[in-house]
Amino acid sequence: MRILSGVKSTGRPHLGNYFGAIRQFIGLQPKGEGYYFVADLHALDTVRDADTMRDLSLGVALDYLALGLDPAQCTLFKQSDVPEVSELMWILGTVTPMGQLQRAHGYKDAVAKGKDVDFGLFSYPVLMAADILLYRSDVVPVGKDQAQHLELTRDLAVKFNMTYCKDFDPETGEGGALKLPESMILEDVAVVPGTDGRKMSKSYDNTIKLFDTDKQIKKSIMRIVTDSTPVEHPKDPDSCNVYALLKLFCDEAELAEVAARYRAGGTGYGDFKKLLLERFHDMFGAARARRAELEQDPDYVRDVLAQGAAHARQTARAVLDDVQEACGLR
Ligand code: ADP
Ligand code: TRP
Repeated sequence: MRILSGVKSTGRPHLGNYFGAIRQFIGLQPKGEGYYFVADLHALDTVRDADTMRDLSLGVALDYLALGLDPAQCTLFKQSDVPEVSELMWILGTVTPMGQLQRAHGYKDAVAKGKDVDFGLFSYPVLMAADILLYRSDVVPVGKDQAQHLELTRDLAVKFNMTYCKDFDPETGEGGALKLPESMILEDVAVVPGTDGRKMSKSYDNTIKLFDTDKQIKKSIMRIVTDSTPVEHPKDPDSCNVYALLKLFCDEAELAEVAARYRAGGTGYGDFKKLLLERFHDMFGAARARRAELEQDPDYVRDVLAQGAAHARQTARAVLDDVQEACGLR
């Protein structure tokens, strides 16, 4: 089973990205042949500064490595290091109905907000389909927000195969140059709340970032919004943003004990925040230390990416050859 996924290099990862996406990649690593990439071509549509782009792309690779993706077990690479993806994107673009792209969420939202929409944003889903199809991926773990992109990917694979591959059987999905991937939508991953109680998101400035400085992490946790129940009064854990985050860190026994302390009164929110800070460091301390170490050795990280790209390109080349052959480009 080949598992593929990517993370756009548009910012530094927060708890939402970790629990919603990256943790799953790491869990899946021993279950199949993993391809995990830094989606720098996708990021190019929002990051418009060369140094920032280089920093953020290397940053995602550092995050992957620090959090536990292991180059001995999976292929780690940068999207733009496999130029075959851009050619497949073009080929897929020739069988992509405009209407389907006009209905894509990202494009529709941007238009609704009156933003200047460029071709990069409009064609984003086609590049994502190329990412997936270029490696004959079986399974693509993504957040719910990406489900529509996965549907388009399957549609484009069918469309291409129907157009060009006479042995293709749409019933079984066999006999085409492009393989139909299955999405693995991570339904049961609850939405991680941010410090203000809304969904944690870099667009709301309510994140707790995995690799911020100790001081900044403390600051982010201390600013979690709570109500004004006095220290001695009983508190409701289920309506508390701190407790919602503690759920991600504590085991059942500890959580039950924390809930009892909420209900008993006598403990202030500040103490629960301190506990969260402690658990944060318990969970991410090793990864944070590892990332700091890797940062000192960017050549190692570049080397991992170069080797990953060489391997990814081999896989990609064979698929692109089949595609070119099928549509008569060779
Ligand atoms: P942001 O909302 O901060 O811009 P992204 O859109 O870059 O985050 O998120 C990348 C992936 O991380 C998403 O596909 C989703 O699976 C996951 N994710 C982001 N925020 C959350 C959250 N608050 N809770 C759960 N998963 C999240
Ligand atoms: N669009 C994805 C996101 O915003 C990132 C991504 C790009 C991706 N190409 C992909 C994810 C291919 C899975 C497979 O999170």
